[in-house]
Amino acid sequence: MADTNFEHQKLAIKPRHMDFPFGRLKKLKFFDDNIYKSSFMAGLSASFPLGEAEFLDSVRYFRDKINNPDLKHQVKGFIGQEAHHSRQHRFVNSELDRLGYRTDKIEKDLKKEIAKLVTKQTQQFRLAYTVCSEHITAIMAEYALNEPAFLEGMDAPMKDLLLWHSVEEIEHKSVAFDVYMEVVGDVKYLNKTMKIAITIMHLHFTQRMFKLAFNTKHWASFKEFTGFLSWMFGKGGMWRSLRQPYKAFYKKGFHPWNNGGLELVEKWQREYAQPEQNKASAEYQIAHPA
Ligand SMILES: [Fe+2]
Ligand SMILES: [Fe+2]
Repeated sequence: MADTNFEHQKLAIKPRHMDFPFGRLKKLKFFDDNIYKSSFMAGLSASFPLGEAEFLDSVRYFRDKINNPDLKHQVKGFIGQEAHHSRQHRFVNSELDRLGYRTDKIEKDLKKEIAKLVTKQTQQFRLAYTVCSEHITAIMAEYALNEPAFLEGMDAPMKDLLLWHSVEEIEHKSVAFDVYMEVVGDVKYLNKTMKIAITIMHLHFTQRMFKLAFNTKHWASFKEFTGFLSWMFGKGGMWRSLRQPYKAFYKKGFHPWNNGGLELVEKWQREYAQPEQNKASAEYQIAHPA
């Protein structure tokens, strides 16, 4: 095992039952008035419902082989959280389609790709791929919560959704990894899979962004494209900022909690949580009387 400290497995992972007012998403360029930044985020959102369903399935397959009771408990929370993410992204995706993005076309392609993955690849590969995807998602989530400039200029319902999604990705960031280490444990194989996963993800994110921007027919802005490039690749941009945490995955003894992250859960709670959007809170009951 890469990790001997199981303290993190005591962390209670519970889905927050959110209800975001997605009908308020009125602007096509909901992110900084920039079609490429908006399409990049729409592409991410388009891939979540089916992508995350595959993550759950790949972990669920190994559920009976897990002996650690704390981890078993966390797997339950992980499944609950991912299922809610899929649900909320489905809601926002239909609003994005109303604006003209056609995320449904991305979903159609993804459905075929996942069907191929399920029939052609081993269960070990599917689980390893999920571990890699979860690492990439978690470092993006940490970046979103750490660096307020990253999502600056994004309209509220989408931004609230992404920040909520981020906090839960951080909470469950070690679950698939711990399952893999307990039932498979082959680190070399995991590192090889990461190289495949990162290549596929780069291709997909780029391809989806262009497809969605073209679908809207509002893509022809050089200024917006260069704005996207500096947001992504410029100083303090996502590309440069994620390089180090990405590379950490290959280090000997890597574990998703090695560099902390719990403080970001507290930060979200303090700065971004909106109880009136959480069905379990009293504020939600007041805002939505029966
Ligand atoms: Fe998720
Ligand atoms: Fe996740």
